[in-house]
Amino acid sequence: MSNTLADKIKESAEFLRDKGIDKVDVAVILGSGLNDYADRIENALVLSYNEIPNMQAGLVSDHRGQLVYGEYRAKKVVLLAGRFHYYECGDMDKTAFPARLMVALGAKRFIITNAAGCVNEDFNAGDLMLIRDHINYSGANPLIGPNIDEFGPRFPDMTYTYNMELRDELKKRANEEGIELREGVYMMFSGPTFETPAEIVFARTVGADAVGMSTVPEAIIANHAGCEVIGISFLSNMAAGVLDQPLSGAEVTEAAQKVQNTFAKVVDIAIEI
Ligand code: HPA
Repeated sequence: MSNTLADKIKESAEFLRDKGIDKVDVAVILGSGLNDYADRIENALVLSYNEIPNMQAGLVSDHRGQLVYGEYRAKKVVLLAGRFHYYECGDMDKTAFPARLMVALGAKRFIITNAAGCVNEDFNAGDLMLIRDHINYSGANPLIGPNIDEFGPRFPDMTYTYNMELRDELKKRANEEGIELREGVYMMFSGPTFETPAEIVFARTVGADAVGMSTVPEAIIANHAGCEVIGISFLSNMAAGVLDQPLSGAEVTEAAQKVQNTFAKVVDIAIEI
């Protein structure tokens, strides 16, 4: 059996190559309430995370735990329907493993999506926001530990993590379809608690437009390996304390239902451009 993280990645990548995943242009990570996008690829190869060596299976309930692979919009695409969040395990190696695997399979572009709380009071619940930059406030980093030099450098630059040309093109194309995309800074908290109102005031003060419990680990892994990154936040709710009412996970999933079509159009464009 394999031991190091690098060994595990190699073993799992070989397993997937043997299943026929020999080329990956785009990896799409689907966030909370957004897993239904995984049904879009016809004649797809569908693997349950349970089948894939070293992949974590236990996922929050509205995440499917499926890897879907096929040709879509003239690209070879992997859709990852379900994440293993940092708050589920406290282990960044496990959280970032699917992203590592996509790098090992040669993915060039990552489209990373999430549901997030809206901190910017000029934006609205229900809006989609392209991530311009992030603040890693999780207290952890997926690159802690021995660096895997074949993936990328020990001290990766993070200045251009979220590709600006792709962001501009995506905004323009979405606009032509009548979809207005916001743009802003995503701040990751570890969760699983939602933030306190005081933490949201803090987040706004340090420049965050949205808060969430994911995305940053995968963006770091993708950027480390020199991949293009597009981050899309679905602002499912106004963050804690913005409105005088409590937050709930069910509210996030419900709100996502309303935005499925628009979300799908935006991800379609992000794959195509
Ligand atoms: N905070 C953190 N994560 C979230 C939120 C939120 O308000 N909404 C959806 N995911």
